[in-house]
Amino acid sequence: MMKKVTTKTLLEMKRNGEKITMLTAYDYTSALIVDSAGVDIILVGDSLGMVMLGYDSTIPVTMEEMVHHTRAVVRARKRAMVIFDMPFLSYQTGKRDAILNAGRALKETGCDAVKIEGGKEQEDTIKALVDAGIPVCGHIGLQPQSVNVYGGYVLRGKGEEREKLIEDAKAVERAGAFAVVLEKVPSDLAKEITESLSIPTIGIGAGKYCDGQVLVFHDMIGMFDKFKPKFVKRYAEVGKEIRSAVESYVKEVKNGVFPGEEHSY
Ligand code: KIV
Repeated sequence: MMKKVTTKTLLEMKRNGEKITMLTAYDYTSALIVDSAGVDIILVGDSLGMVMLGYDSTIPVTMEEMVHHTRAVVRARKRAMVIFDMPFLSYQTGKRDAILNAGRALKETGCDAVKIEGGKEQEDTIKALVDAGIPVCGHIGLQPQSVNVYGGYVLRGKGEEREKLIEDAKAVERAGAFAVVLEKVPSDLAKEITESLSIPTIGIGAGKYCDGQVLVFHDMIGMFDKFKPKFVKRYAEVGKEIRSAVESYVKEVKNGVFPGEEHSY
């Protein structure tokens, strides 16, 4: 039986200086690949709203959609921790709603933890969730659910905002979160935050000094082309491969090449 990654494993990894890997997955097949390739944490991100469902932002994503996708991911994983990303308005309306929705995520999907966006303003909610027995990963810096407040997916923590971000990180840790995602912040700030916290930081667009890294699966395999932030590294061009396979299929069916004798009964 493979040993599963837990909040304790992640803390030990930070203490030992071993980098933590996190990737998103939204379905059974990709979760099988991500888990068996040795990724430590699978995030069922609300980015699924844009990547899988074609929304313009993560705002419309519902609890039902998150539950549906997370159940598929949990069926696939053997080792990785699975984190359920709490969608917009599932926790911002108060501690009771947050506990009921996050509790539902744990009960109905079998995930191990939830992620919520927000720093100091979510301190009480994170604490209430942890007190209720629900492990929480924080998420500060660029918070995509607040895109309309900031007027875009902009770099956070520059100039005067720097101190606020350090305060946010401390608040998330104080509230009892087991890790915190730092999204789109300068790498020297991410370094300072990483060194000042005892919980791991997981960076996306936050440079190399974080305790771990996270990317959106479809971005890093070249499956999602709508936009490509600077922080994404493409490890493959799977989208192009699939297009070429589909084009060959169309051609062969039209020309009567497929199916051949070997595919027929
Ligand atoms: O929804 C998501 O995929 C995320 C990551 C970008 C951290 O929150």
